[in-house]
Amino acid sequence: MKTKIKRIGILTGGGDCPGLNAVIRGVTKPAHDNGISVFGILDGFEGLVNGKTIELYNKDVSGILGKGGTILGSSNKGDPFHWPEETNGKIKIVDRSKEALKNYDGWGLDALVAIGGDGTMNIAHKMSLMGMNIVGVPKTIDNDLEATDLTFGHDSAVYVVSEALDRLHTTASAHHRVMVCEVMGRYAGWIALNGGIAGGADIILIPEIPFNWNTVYEKVLQRNMRGKRFSLVCVAEGARPKNGSLITKAKDKRRTDPIQLGGIGEYVAKMISSNTGLETRTTVLGHLQRGGSPTPFDRILSTKFGTNAIQLVMKRQFGRMVALKGSEIISVKLANAISKQKLVKQKDQAVLAALSVGVSFGSEKL
Ligand code: F6P
Repeated sequence: MKTKIKRIGILTGGGDCPGLNAVIRGVTKPAHDNGISVFGILDGFEGLVNGKTIELYNKDVSGILGKGGTILGSSNKGDPFHWPEETNGKIKIVDRSKEALKNYDGWGLDALVAIGGDGTMNIAHKMSLMGMNIVGVPKTIDNDLEATDLTFGHDSAVYVVSEALDRLHTTASAHHRVMVCEVMGRYAGWIALNGGIAGGADIILIPEIPFNWNTVYEKVLQRNMRGKRFSLVCVAEGARPKNGSLITKAKDKRRTDPIQLGGIGEYVAKMISSNTGLETRTTVLGHLQRGGSPTPFDRILSTKFGTNAIQLVMKRQFGRMVALKGSEIISVKLANAISKQKLVKQKDQAVLAALSVGVSFGSEKL
């Protein structure tokens, strides 16, 4: 006979995004209703290694649906398999996964709900191979997980981009300027693509379509000749010119992916200004895209993800991640969830729609 689930752990790993608290609430409330106690593990997998937990009561998850951030804290430096140990200013990477497993067993957890992006799902998969009962919930503003049509957080980030572009539009038009807006998304262009369409960008530059400088210059010059004396450029942090490389800001060995992207917006603005003579300005939206309240769409998706995750736990369907397919919440094996990154395809309907309304991707061949 299957043993009843009595106690679960829950953690939020990697970069935060709007909707994390809504998932925590979506897991915890039904868990309590089914007699399951919930241990909040603090700061992602870091807390699982270091033993930092709090018990979550109903009062803790009440009123958090619309709150940004995560009541549990998060970290992208706490990978138990890639743990940065600092001695005398030197960083050595060690494996502390056995300690994480020991804590999980020691706290008497029957299962763990891990909420996070590809990094967190990777760790969750490796931990599940070590014997932990894990259910994953996908989050990321980048929307770059192939196994789910959407991750929560993306819609909220797109909302921020769209609003920013609306604001940049009016000032660009007043001053006859080219406004370059750099957005996040890592190696995927979803935020720039969707945010750019929603905010009426004239040029959208994404990692999946390396751009041609001349095509970019021609687009802004053509607009000027036609009397539109301003242009909006939405550039993904991972975008790069043909034969060019990624623009990075810093490297941090303590992270699983050590690269910190940033700087392409400023570069694009400088190139446009010096090659067209037009006045340009840059806005980097940065972490504004990750902060604040989730949109209603993200609150609903997070609630569906959270409540479905606890259902999987109660049915003892471990080693799986909840996912959105069409309008249905399904579950996929963790192993499959991490196998492929979802990138923008050149024939994506959003790309085609953008092209049809005159958006340039800085490439002639589309
Ligand atoms: O993955 C989410 C994300 O916001 C990316 O879009 C961005 O490149 C990265 O995290 C920034 O991470 P950090 O906040 O650690 O600088």
